[in-house]
Order: sequence, then C-alpha cells, then structure tokens
Amino acid sequence: MSKKRGKKAEKEAVASGSESAADAGTAQPPAPADASARPGFWDNVHVPDLVKHRIEVVKRHSRLSKRMRAKLRRLLPWAIAAGLLTAAFMWEPSNAFLMWLLSNLMQLVVAIFYMIVQFGALFWFMSRSKIERIRPEDPKIITFDDYWGQPRLKRLVRQWLGLLSDREQFVEMGGRYINGLLLYGPPGTGKTMLAKAMSGEAGVAFISIEGSGFKAMFWGVDVMKMIWFVRKARKLARRYGACIAYIDEIDAVGASRGGVMGGGGGEGGGFGGMSGGTGALTRLLYEMDGIDEKTRKEKIQGRLYKLMGKKPPERNWHVLFMGSTNRPGVLDAALTRPGRFDQLIQVDLPDASGRREIVEGYLRTISHDDTVDVEAIVIGNQKATPAQIMAALTKDAVRIALFDHRRAISQDDVEKAFLQQYMGIENPIEDMPEGQRYEIAIHEAGHTVAQHYLLPDTRITHVTILRRGGALGFMLPDNEQEMHSFPLERFTRDIMVGMAGQEAMRLIFGKLYTGPTGDYASVRRRLFMLYQSGQFGPPLSGWESLVEGQGSGTAEEAKLLRKVWVDLQSSTFDLLRAHEDEVRAIANHLMEHNSMSTKHVLALLGPNGKEPTGTELPAPSGNGGSPGAAAPAPTGDEAEVAGEPVDAKTEAAPSGAGDG
Ligand SMILES: Nc1ncnc2c1ncn2[C@@H]1O[C@H](COP(=O)(O)OP(=O)(O)O)[C@@H](O)[C@H]1O
Ligand SMILES: [Mg+2]
Repeated sequence: MSKKRGKKAEKEAVASGSESAADAGTAQPPAPADASARPGFWDNVHVPDLVKHRIEVVKRHSRLSKRMRAKLRRLLPWAIAAGLLTAAFMWEPSNAFLMWLLSNLMQLVVAIFYMIVQFGALFWFMSRSKIERIRPEDPKIITFDDYWGQPRLKRLVRQWLGLLSDREQFVEMGGRYINGLLLYGPPGTGKTMLAKAMSGEAGVAFISIEGSGFKAMFWGVDVMKMIWFVRKARKLARRYGACIAYIDEIDAVGASRGGVMGGGGGEGGGFGGMSGGTGALTRLLYEMDGIDEKTRKEKIQGRLYKLMGKKPPERNWHVLFMGSTNRPGVLDAALTRPGRFDQLIQVDLPDASGRREIVEGYLRTISHDDTVDVEAIVIGNQKATPAQIMAALTKDAVRIALFDHRRAISQDDVEKAFLQQYMGIENPIEDMPEGQRYEIAIHEAGHTVAQHYLLPDTRITHVTILRRGGALGFMLPDNEQEMHSFPLERFTRDIMVGMAGQEAMRLIFGKLYTGPTGDYASVRRRLFMLYQSGQFGPPLSGWESLVEGQGSGTAEEAKLLRKVWVDLQSSTFDLLRAHEDEVRAIANHLMEHNSMSTKHVLALLGPNGKEPTGTELPAPSGNGGSPGAAAPAPTGDEAEVAGEPVDAKTEAAPSGAGDG
C-alpha cells in the first residue's frame, strides 16, 4: 500500500515538475504553528530536497540503455566461463583432466546427496511427536453435553465457535478471526477437555500436542516439530473447514525467553543448551503471524484465476491456536500480544451448582446405593477440581467398594475417596509408640477445638492421627458456604487455629515439639495478607523483610509483627486452657479410634450455634479488625487459604485441598 502511494506521489511530482513536498513520509521540517511570527530553528538548517533527489535517481536508473547495459554486465562473466569451458573440452590434454575431475565431483555429489537423505530421514523421524487428532466424524468426539458444570465458560466461547463453523458473513463484513485463545487455571479444572469439547461442538477438527513434546535433543528439531505440527493443523483445517490446534501446557514452549545468554527459556536443555522451547516458540510466533498469509498453493491458484480474469476465491478455512497453562505469569509477552494468544480465558474451579452437575454426571455412570448424598458431596468439597471429582468417584470410590465386596458405592466410600484425593493414601506408621501418638492426638485436638470455637460456621469434616501423604495427622475443615470475600478478621481466627496445635502441646505437656512447619507456613502467609491489607499500618515493604526482619522492612514493623504474633499465641493458649477438658476428650477419642468425622466432633464439643467469640485483632492502627470490618475482595490465593487442612507435625506441606 505505502509503496504504491509513494510511486503515485512521485509521478504526480514529476508531472507537475513541482519541487514542493509531495510525500508526507520524507523528512520535511515541521512547520511552526505560526511561521511568520517566529523564525524557528528549522529556518536556519539546510535540508536537501529529498523528493527531488529520489525522483532524479529513479529517472536515471530507468533509462532503457542503462537497463540493457546493466543486464549485459551481469551476463558477461557467464559468457566468458562458458567460452573457456568449451575451449577446454576441445583441447585434448585438458579434456582428460576435466573428465577425471567431473567423475570425482559426481561421486562427491552422490555421497553428499546420500548423507542429506539420511539426515533428512533422521530429522523427519525425530521431528514427529505424539499428537492427538480428533476428526469430527470420530466416535470419540466430546461436545458441550459432556462438559459439565461450567456454563459461564461455554457461554464465553460460544460466539467464537459459531464463527468458526460459519464465517461467511463475518468475513464479508471485514471481520478477522482470532488466532489464539489461551486457557489458564489450576491443573484439573478441565482446560484440555474444554478445548476438545469446543472442537466437537463446532464440528471442526482437533489436533493437540504437549508443550513438552517440543523438547528435543538436537538443535533445530523443536523448530521442525512446530512446522510439522502447524502443517498438520492446516491440512486438517483445509479438509474440515477449521481446526483447533491445541498446545497443552504451553509454558513448556512459551516460557519467557528471558536473557539471550544461557539457553533462554530456562527450561531449555539439550546440546548447546539451546534446543529448549525457544526455537519452537519463535517458530510458533512466526506461524501465528503468517497464518493469514497465502500458501504456495494459494498463490499459484490466485495467479491462475488472474489469468482467467476471475477473482480468486476467499480462503474458507481457519486454524485456531489454543493453549493452556497453569502458570500464565511465566509466558513470554510476545505470545500474548494482540494477534497471537490475545484472548485469555480463565478456567476456574466450578461453583456449587457446577460441582452438583459434575457429581451428578459422574454418578450417572457408576452404580451407587442410596446413601450417596449429592448435597453433602457438593458442600463438603468446595476446593475440588472436576478432575478430582471424577477420580474420587469413578476410580477411588469404586475400587474401595469393590474390595469391600460390594457392587455399589456408598457415601462412606465417596468420603474416603475424596480424602485420598486431598491428603494422599492412608499410610499409618506401624508400631508408633503410644507417647508419640498421644502427642499428635493433642496437637490435632488443639486445632479441632480452636476451629470449633473460633470458626463455628465451618464444618470439621475429618480429624485423624493416621499418617497420610506427608502429614502425621491433620484436621480438615470446610466452609458451609462458598466464600469469595470475607472480613479480614477471619484471617486472625485462621491464624489462631493454625497456632492451636502447638499451643495445645504447650498446654498439656508444657513444652513444644518439632514439626509444625506446615502450620507456621500458613500462619506466616496469613499474617502477610493482613499486613498487605494495611492492618499493621501502611504496607510499604515486601514480605521477605517482614519474615526475616531485614531488607527494607523497618524495625518498627518487625517489632509490631512480633507483638501481634505473641498476642495471638497467648489468646490461643487462653482459649485452649478454657476448653482443656474438650482438648483431652478429643485426643482420647483419637487415641481410641484414630480418626473422627463431623458427627463425632459435634458429639464431643456440642452443637455450635454460638456467635464467634470476640477475639479481636490487637489493633494497632486504623479499623484494625473490628468484626465486620470492610472486606476487600480477596485474591484467588487468599480465597484459597480459607479452609485448607491444618496439618500437624509435618516436615513437608501436604498436597492438601487448599494448595491445589
Ligand atoms: N467440566 C467437566 N465436566 C466433566 N468432566 C470434567 C470437566 N472438567 C474436567 N473433567 C474431567 O477432568 C479430567 C481432567 O481434565 P483436563 O481437561 O485434563 O484438566 P486440565 O487440562 O485443566 O489439567 C478430564 O479428563 C475429565 O474427566
Ligand atoms: Mg491439560
């Protein structure tokens, strides 16, 4: 376009012989707003007339004689070489030498050709990765009917899908289809399944590859893999009108390239430290930019149509790239810029009605008895991902029932199955000395009693002193209602529940024990959130400074934090002392039965309709934690923290429900 306009401007300028600025693009001095009033800086600067100069250059070079001479000059060396060669062949001695040279050269060429073929075959072989292809006629396609409990997501993508299968009017109006759609969210929330369901719903082809599939041992192979993948996607798109090209865990290719040195991507590896994802990423960007570009076939077709004097047909296929990641933050900025993966869709945990739909959906596929309580499952597993629900119901619960010689799963199996999903398989330490068991029991009893009195609106679903995953024991609370926003004061109570394990041991044994790493980690995290929310004064410095008491954090901040910590510790201790009998009762129950559920907890501690006890933030400033203080909407991370299992005496934090 700009080239054309430039030429036109030149012609006009030539025609009129004008020397004035015809082209806005040339370096003309900007005219001052009121030129006559102020002689500007540019008046005294000599600027050559660029337009005139360019027109002269073009004129000079386009003279016919000049063009012919340039062509002849180019041909001359070839003519001389051909003459010399002919002479050499005519002369006997040089002819023999030439023949010898020629035969040797031929051998060399054959050898090189053979090597190239071998390498080509090797690369071709290496550049194939495991891909999954689903064609619209495949029986294994899934549609939105199989994708349960995420109505918002389906609504979000429906418009794009509609355009994918019926683009005509959209294209006619000058609309351009999106190139990339990025799904992000925690693992197991159904990103891959959504992409598949989208292709099935729109009746287009689907092709997918793992981001890690681009990892290769040799430099350049990852690029070839990407070329191969995109070519396959194009082929499918031409055949079926459209194709969704899905790259799972795209952060393996698309992680920020970072510095140029040291292999870029950080996840790279392989020979030369360069064959990580960076080559593949660059190639992907190139392919996405060029996806609208005409292919060779289309160009030839276009020329043929032009010869026949017809308008070449519009392209009637499209490749929609999709990617998924649970770490959108690490993606290269180039990947998410407009024209590439610019449409971001968050795939989140399903809400209560979503979980209900998913639970009911999977229950339809397995035999279950009528003890199974859908509502209890929905309320009791607020942090469950669809993948966890699927696995708990169809894998664990069925297995548990089968090995218990039953032909249908019960609610009890379901609860055990979810516990396995969150906390790992039960793996008790045989022959644990009674003394140590009692220590763990007291620790868990402390958490339980604190949770019961401080957060009465939560349900304690499970308390145990049997080891599971990395936890020697744990108390698993659950909110009765979904919480997206809550008073900050709740964090204070959560902190106290976290401290209660150790404080119970201090109360009963008069000393502390090893291992509450997980407890204290979550206490620290919550304290930081309180700090960030301005509960301890203006939150000016970073977290590290608060924890370590160094960096930019002021000494006052550290002192204040220590005071808050100690105050909360002693409030917790006081609470447990007031309920010491109950702590002992829970511990005794655990010693006898190892685990307890909501029912047992309520039997020992009594029904809990009470208002939360008035433990207030030791308020140093502002509206510090008065009950019902204005609650800023918590971030996803904060929302996650509420209701995570409180684990006892662990070294490693368990892969608990909250940390998903
Ligand atoms: N909305 C849903 N409805 C039914 N099942 C689902 C849903 N979302 C996920 N699942 C189940 O969870 C499994 C894992 O989902 P997947 O899409 O692989 O998660 P992600 O890609 O987000 O890690 C799926 O195979 C499917 O069985
Ligand atoms: Mg996935």
